[in-house]
Amino acid sequence: MAYELIEVSTEAGKVGIVRLNRPKQLNALNEALMDELGAALKAFDADEAIGCMIVTGSEKAFAAGADIGAMAQYSFADAYGRDYITRNWETIRSIRKPVIAAVSGFALGGGCELAMMCDFIIAADNAKFGQPEIKLGIIPGAGGTQRLPRAVGKSKAMDMALTARMMDAQEAERAGLVSRVVAVDKLMEETLGAALTICEFSQIATMAAKESVNRAFESGLSDGVMFERRLFHALFATADQKEGMDAFVNKRKPSFKNR
Ligand code: CAA
Repeated sequence: MAYELIEVSTEAGKVGIVRLNRPKQLNALNEALMDELGAALKAFDADEAIGCMIVTGSEKAFAAGADIGAMAQYSFADAYGRDYITRNWETIRSIRKPVIAAVSGFALGGGCELAMMCDFIIAADNAKFGQPEIKLGIIPGAGGTQRLPRAVGKSKAMDMALTARMMDAQEAERAGLVSRVVAVDKLMEETLGAALTICEFSQIATMAAKESVNRAFESGLSDGVMFERRLFHALFATADQKEGMDAFVNKRKPSFKNR
C-alpha cells in the first residue's frame, strides 16, 4: 500500500516505524491517516522479522487531535450513525506486538488518546499532553476519559478533561502517563534503543507480556492474576523458554527463535 499521510520505515530490519506526516495540520488525525496507520501497523504485526513498532510524529506535534476541519459540520448521524470520526481507531488495539509512542510536541485530544493506545509512551522534554475537547463543545471520543484516569488517576484526568489544561512532559512522567522523558534530540535514539531491546527477546514472550499487562485494565485482580498464570505456564511449552533458561544457566547470550 502506498502511504500519503504517514512515512513508514524499519530500523535494523526489526523495528517498524510509522511517522505521522501531515505537518501543516500538526498531524491532525483524519480517516485517511488512521486507515494508513492501521494498515501499516497490521503489516508490521504480520511480518515475523519485526519485533516492535514505534509510532511518532514531528518535533512540533505528535498529533494535535482529530481533524477539527473535517469534523466541524458533522451531524449526529455522521458521527454516530456513520461512525465517521473514530471508525478505524481501534485497529491499533488489535496489534499484538509491542507498540511504543515516541511523543514530541503536542499530543492533544485524539493525539493524546492515540499515544495512550500504544503500549508505553516515551516523551521528549517538549511534549505536551492534553484533552482539550471541552473547548470545542465535545468530550474525548477515542478513550481519553477511560485511559487517562487509568494512567494518571481521577483528579488529574478530570482536571485535564474539564479545564483543558495541558500537562508537560515532567508532570506526565510524575503522573505515570509516560515511562521516560528524554531530551528532544534524543527521542528517537532512546525509543529505538527500547524497541531494539524488546526485539532481542522472544516475540512469543513479548506478546504474552503485552497481553497480560493489558488484561490488568480489563479484569479484576483475581481474574487478571489467573490470566497471567495461564500465559506464564503456557510459555513453558515454547522452545524460547528452554533457550532463555539454558542460556542463563550456561552463562551465554540467548538466541530466541520465536518458537
Ligand atoms: N484539526 C485540524 N487542524 C488542526 C488541528 C486539528 N486538531 N490542530 C491544529 N490544526 C491546524 C491549524 O488549524 C493550523 O492550520 P492553518 O495553518 O491552516 O491555520 C495549523 O494546524 C497550525 O496550528 P496553529 O496555528 O493553531 O498552531 P499553534 O502552534 O498556534 O497552536 C495548538 C497549536 C495548540 C495544537 C492548536 O493548533 C490547537 O489548539 N489545536 C487543536 C487541538 C484540539 O483541540 N484537539 C482536539 C481535537 S478533537 C478530538 O481529538 C476528538 C477526539 O477525542 C477523537
